[in-house]
Amino acid sequence: HGYFTHDPGFTATSSCTSAITYIDGDEGLLYYRGYPIEELAYQSDYMEVSYLLIHGELPTAEQKRAFETSIRHHTLLHDQMENVFRGFRRSAHPMAVMIGVTGAMSAFYHKGLDNFDPQHREIVAHRLIAKIPTVAAWAYKFNEGQPFVYPQNRLSYAENFMHMMFSSPCEPYEPNPVLARALDRIFILHADHEQNASTSTVRLAGSSGANPYACIASGMASLWGPLHGGANEAVLKMLEEIDDVSKIPGFIKRAKDKSDPFRLMGFGHRIYKNMDPRAAIIRQTCYEVLDELGLRDDPQFKIALELERIALEDDYFIAKKLYPNVDFYSGIIFRAMGLPTSMFTAIFALARTAGWVAQWHEMLSDPAHKIGRPRQLYTGSARREFVPLDQRG
Ligand code: CMC
Repeated sequence: HGYFTHDPGFTATSSCTSAITYIDGDEGLLYYRGYPIEELAYQSDYMEVSYLLIHGELPTAEQKRAFETSIRHHTLLHDQMENVFRGFRRSAHPMAVMIGVTGAMSAFYHKGLDNFDPQHREIVAHRLIAKIPTVAAWAYKFNEGQPFVYPQNRLSYAENFMHMMFSSPCEPYEPNPVLARALDRIFILHADHEQNASTSTVRLAGSSGANPYACIASGMASLWGPLHGGANEAVLKMLEEIDDVSKIPGFIKRAKDKSDPFRLMGFGHRIYKNMDPRAAIIRQTCYEVLDELGLRDDPQFKIALELERIALEDDYFIAKKLYPNVDFYSGIIFRAMGLPTSMFTAIFALARTAGWVAQWHEMLSDPAHKIGRPRQLYTGSARREFVPLDQRG
């Protein structure tokens, strides 16, 4: 009591112990439960990674089957939840709709919920992982004024999301295995990232014992910001604005100018002072997707590659250790797949759900966990006398 450290932005404060994700920012390493992200991205799949994050071990074949079956059984939303969507304006950003609808899940799936029962927590985790793709796709369909498409349980997790996004009652979407694999890999890369802003938000909200669906909605709200998950949308807008390779130096100049608030979106990271290992995998995946779609000459991809090349040779970016992060190339892949810019952050939220629930579950499993309660340095007025309204000048 009495003493505490003042650490705005938590640059040097650990808020918890965690056995889920390990990052070495200087070396550019990312491990989930001890497994390098590269191995998981190329050899595993998102269902397996979700299981790993929540349970701590890769599933056996039997455990994986049971997990996938459970996820498939939870993909539908309560029929009345359609009304929740219909309460929004058609023009609402999909993230606004997702936050609202996910928060509303706390009004639909609360019966008998006991946060301190591990089995209840498991059901919550499965429900969220299963239903968030439906919520995200329906937020998009609502925007477009198209009928909601129900999940198809014969499809894989990524294929099902694409089906709900792109199928219509007139024409079913035929999944493309290369694109589905790429999307699944992107889900893996976004699945967890230890105590970032949104995950810390989920933990802080959950530390009071609050309803988990509401806690995940609060994580989504935090993720939405352009300095966090909103960056993938901002990157694509920036590449569109740059428009031509010849204009890159002008934008680099602006990014370095302290009197200009402009930053190179998709560059820099609080922890990584080296290449974000996820960015390297996403760049490779970008080549695969653009090749599959015959878009290798995509002008925005060319601008992105050239921007990266120039920035990595620039003294400012070298001195500040600013490298491309996970959001730099993902938007190009999403756009090539036909996913609208407004859905980029929603897809990040979808994929991060596994990490959020794993972290929430880990926190509540710890018998020593406490309600989060940061301190402050008070900078306001000292005690003073109240002045009645008629005597105030
Ligand atoms: N462009 C130009 N300058 C930058 C950039 C950038 N993208 N990022 C950081 N800087 C400068 C910044 O101006 C500061 O300079 P100075 O020391 O002279 O004041 C220095 O580098 C350190 O930056 P900071 O803002 O103090 O660092 P931070 O750790 O608080 O912020 C960050 C990290 C990711 C918010 C920041 O790098 C940024 O705004 N990047 C652009 C947005 C972005 O791509 N966000 C996605 C992050 S990764 C995925 C995710 O979390 O969702």
